[in-house]
Parts: sequence; structure tokens; C-alpha cells
Amino acid sequence: MLVTHTKDELVEQTADWRRHEEHIALVPTMGNLHAGHLALVDLAREHAERVIVSIFVNPTQFGVDEDFDAYPRTLERDKRRLKTTAADMIFAPSVDTVYPFGLEMATKVSVPGLTENFCGATRPGHFDGVTTVVARLFALVQPDVAVFGQKDYQQQLVLRHMTQDMNLPISIITGETVRNEQGLALSSRNSYLTEEERATAPLLYETLTTMSGELKNGRRDFDQLEASAIARLSSAGFDVDYFSIRRAQNLEVPDRDCDDLVVLVAARLGEARLIDNIVVTI
Ligand code: PAF
Repeated sequence: MLVTHTKDELVEQTADWRRHEEHIALVPTMGNLHAGHLALVDLAREHAERVIVSIFVNPTQFGVDEDFDAYPRTLERDKRRLKTTAADMIFAPSVDTVYPFGLEMATKVSVPGLTENFCGATRPGHFDGVTTVVARLFALVQPDVAVFGQKDYQQQLVLRHMTQDMNLPISIITGETVRNEQGLALSSRNSYLTEEERATAPLLYETLTTMSGELKNGRRDFDQLEASAIARLSSAGFDVDYFSIRRAQNLEVPDRDCDDLVVLVAARLGEARLIDNIVVTI
């Protein structure tokens, strides 16, 4: 497995693969890799002969009071983990490589509408940072396929929108959320949880699955369902940012006949902000 930090090395290697008519899949990450990321690499390999995993803690998607400085940077461990997968290359660029004109002068990519609610409302500017960096990674790597996790449901919708809207010749694939035995979605930020919080955290997914059952049983009193889920999580110690039932396709408010729903949640537990979701197809 190759490890490259520069644009020149990346371009040289990817050009060689393309000369041999090999397709390239990109798995963008911020590192601190866990089994959820490794599953995305496996999925990427099903769609392309070559897999590149980018590792870049993107400064522009963190708010001023967020955890950019504290975000775990674990390149050596990530390398060891990726050696056990089908990844062909780690691309771990510097900030200057990704933002050659500097952060202040960087051209921004922004998706309206879809980014206004949920994580976009609680983390202003976050999605502009995500779309800006992913557009840059797409321009550098020029992949045929890019793979993102379903755990960041809103993010993958936003990135699909960006890719389609800009006519980028890249297929976006979404990989299922990987969970621990208790149902907690794997996330780099789970490392912020104390032991006690780790015991509480699975209630997030438990509440989502209960909700999925209620919706499948025909309940359509969405406001009531949301309110009772928020009360349940709050009484267990979560500080809920949002818990919402929406149309799976576009996050709009569903009507009673909608048969393709997603339930989205973001909640703080101690230092960790956890997000999760469940798609409910009726
Ligand atoms: O999901 C993430 O880890 C990040 O938002 C991404 C897509 C790698 C962009 O920095």
C-alpha cells in the first residue's frame, strides 16, 4: 500500500492506473479509522480496481468552538489498519496541498437548501467546509466512484446533490452504518465518551429502532413520536440537538402517505456529539 502526501505523486500514480484502464474509488476520511471506515474500503473495492483512502482533518468544516485541535490524528495506526484491507493508497495531503491559495482565499463550494437544517443549523458553515473539501479531493484524485457512510445521512445527500448538480462524472455510493454489539454507531468521536456514557450511548439507536417499529405499525403522529423520543433521550442524560422524522430522499417534512422515511438524531452526551439515523421503508 502506497502512502502519498503530495499532489505530484498522487497524479503520477493515478495516471498510471488509468493508463491500465483501472477504475479508482475514493474513500474520503478524516482518519482515526475504525471498522466502519474499513467496511467502506471493502465496499469501494467492489466498485473499482483501485482504492484510495484520503486522510485529511479538514479545518474548514469545524466551527470555532469545535474539536479541530482535539480531533484524533492517528496516521501510523491508520496505516496499520489499512494494510489489512484492499486499499491501494493512502492520500494524506497537507493543508497547503488541499488549499493552495490558503484558507482565506479558498474558493468555496456550497449547497443551499439541504444544508440549512439539522447538522447545518447546529453547526453553521459545517457543510460548506465538507462540500468545499470533497470537491477539492474529487479534483485532485479524479475518482470514478466515491464512498461515504450512511451514518452521516445528511452529508451523503448533500454530496450526492453537489456531484449531480456539478455534473461530476463520479458515482456516489453509500455504505451501511457499522455498529458495536450494543448498537452504537461506530464513530471517531466515540473516543470522547466516558465508560458510563458508553453504557448510555446505545439508547440512541434503541430509540431509533423503536421509532422505526412505530412507523411500520402505521403511526403517523410524527410530532408526538418526536417529542416522546426527545423526552426519553433527555431523561437518560442526552442533550438532544434534533430528533426528526423526514422524507428519506430530500429531508423534507413528510405527509402521512410518505412510505420512504428517515429518522435523524443528533445528541450530545458529555463531550461527544453523536449522530445516527434509520431509514424506514414502509
Ligand atoms: O465524513 C467525514 O469524515 C468528512 O466529513 C469528510 C467527508 C471526509 C470530509 O472531510
